[in-house]
Amino acid sequence: MKFIVGNWKMNGTLSDKEALFKSLKNLHTDNKVVVCLPFILLGGNDYGITLGAQDVSEHDNGAFTGDISGQMLKDADVKYVVVGHSERRANHNETNAIVKAKATAAIKNGIIPIICIGETTEEKNSGRTMTVIKKMLLESVPAKGEYIVAYEPRWAIGSGKIPTSDEIAMAFETISKALHSIKRSDIALLYGGSVNAKNAAQIASIKNVDGLLVGGASLKSDTFLPIIKSVE
Ligand code: 13P
Repeated sequence: MKFIVGNWKMNGTLSDKEALFKSLKNLHTDNKVVVCLPFILLGGNDYGITLGAQDVSEHDNGAFTGDISGQMLKDADVKYVVVGHSERRANHNETNAIVKAKATAAIKNGIIPIICIGETTEEKNSGRTMTVIKKMLLESVPAKGEYIVAYEPRWAIGSGKIPTSDEIAMAFETISKALHSIKRSDIALLYGGSVNAKNAAQIASIKNVDGLLVGGASLKSDTFLPIIKSVE
């Protein structure tokens, strides 16, 4: 069993959701499939697909216009939430401390956070990938509770470029060791960044990779289903 998590980002309509969920319902798979939708598409889950969100407030309720709390997500039957995606870190100035607070808020409400980390092109080119991801990881994860970590090199997102298998293996080894050092060897680890039906099986077979976080290719069944099938 691998996790195959789709992240729709700010894409998709109600009818796109309907179409994908219908095809997922008819799919027999041992994988754990999750679809992280924009907030507005989360309500209603006739097909019983495991729902994820793409952000959560660190606060329980109150004067936070435009934010959504863990309690609200729980009400909408959301089981997972992406926190600290590089697009939120970059576009909304989310720091490791904010990401940790959001992950803690999710856990408090019974939702499993998928905590994202990953280096920039510049950090990669200067040979700092392992140092950067270790620091991001240790500063972003909550003190306790169930969570998942997603390694998404920023330069691999939406670019069609992916790290070599050796680079992925090395990053996952660094992450596993860092989690081991804080006594969390139980954490599932996902790879994200330009995953498609051609590279999914190979990436998912790399040591310590428990699943995939898929952006663009998760929007339509003709690109998402072949990924799910290929890693079984
Ligand atoms: P792409 O699969 O479109 O590269 O996006 C990856 C991602 O950011 C998933 O969270």
